[in-house]
Amino acid sequence: MKKTIGVLTGGGDCPGLNSVLYGVLLKAMDAGFAVVGIEKGWKGFLENITRELDISKLDDLHTIGGTILYTSRTNPYKEAKKVKNQAEKQKIIEETARKMAQQFDVLGIDALIAIGGDDTLGVAAAMHQYAGAKVIGVPKTIDNDLSSTDYTFGFWSAIQLASNTMDNITTTSRSHQRIFVVQVMGRDAGWLTLVSGISTGADIILIPERPFDFAKDIVNVLQERVKAGCKYHIIACSEGAVPTMESLQRDFNTISQAKIAKLPKDDFGNPLLAKLNMSKIIVEELSLRNDLKDFFKKYNAEFEIRDVVLGHTMRAGTPSSFDRILGLRLGTHAAQLVLEDRYGQMVCLRGENIETVPLSEGAKKKTIPLNSDLLELCDLITKVKYENRR
Ligand code: F6P
Repeated sequence: MKKTIGVLTGGGDCPGLNSVLYGVLLKAMDAGFAVVGIEKGWKGFLENITRELDISKLDDLHTIGGTILYTSRTNPYKEAKKVKNQAEKQKIIEETARKMAQQFDVLGIDALIAIGGDDTLGVAAAMHQYAGAKVIGVPKTIDNDLSSTDYTFGFWSAIQLASNTMDNITTTSRSHQRIFVVQVMGRDAGWLTLVSGISTGADIILIPERPFDFAKDIVNVLQERVKAGCKYHIIACSEGAVPTMESLQRDFNTISQAKIAKLPKDDFGNPLLAKLNMSKIIVEELSLRNDLKDFFKKYNAEFEIRDVVLGHTMRAGTPSSFDRILGLRLGTHAAQLVLEDRYGQMVCLRGENIETVPLSEGAKKKTIPLNSDLLELCDLITKVKYENRR
């Protein structure tokens, strides 16, 4: 039976979104299915904003960055977020899920492929769970913070972009003998900062999973490095990195817990961390440290500090080859699930293979486990530059 598949992209854009779309289209064309593009994520789904997707007009779509479907952070369950009472909240979620499932008829689709991160996929999962909607999820995010998949597409493209810039910052940092604090995206998980930091030889790496102690993890390390003769220093700082409560109260003059708690939030309740700008805060706090200034002077080292926010440049441009292939594979497998009438699933990468997991599982968060070998590597590679050097 001929089917019409709706497809949408939600959340932050990400290299490889178009690759997934192309994968869906390739499989759909082969199966004789039609594909309707739903624009602007859940906003377009609710407001019936669609466009026809004709593969004959989209040659090599998988090579192009961003998403031709546009994206948004619209959360259909926004109202439920405001409700404190659990039973009431649950009732609103279930009602919303049922209303949303009715949109399938309005949009003229038999099945929906939702491409997004935990927020977008969480919406899709609830629609399946409470209304039996025929949805399939594809895990997307440069942050790589989704469980059940080895990597989300977009991650390695973002790593390459961040690494290229950090390599470049190293040359200017070395030339001026400066401290650079480089802020790397990744709201709740430090994968982007940890991997790009290690790959470019950052000297201090700050991630959300390990709240930092300003005195011990930054000031002391800089002093040790200066004593060891290091003349420039790169601090890779995740936008989600936060100090420990003890350090916040003891070491910080420019922020407080209250300021962090008051940050504005998006539709899904995520704090807009870019508004906090931790790299800038670290620069300000370091600049206030006259003791550190004197220490640098004693060792005849320059004490100049700059911050750079990589921000959206990390999501920009064309996907890497890895993400093009991963996106295409995830897209074709998602369309295959429609062919087989297998819904409520998320496609994912496991080793060499594309597999499926229940969407409710796949939509969960994945942060860096504290026993990760990457963290051990991080500690070894940063310490080696100053320990036992004198
Ligand atoms: O999509 C993930 C992400 O890039 C995070 O790393 C970052 O915190 C957030 O999106 C930024 O969102 P926006 O594009 O809405 O500023």
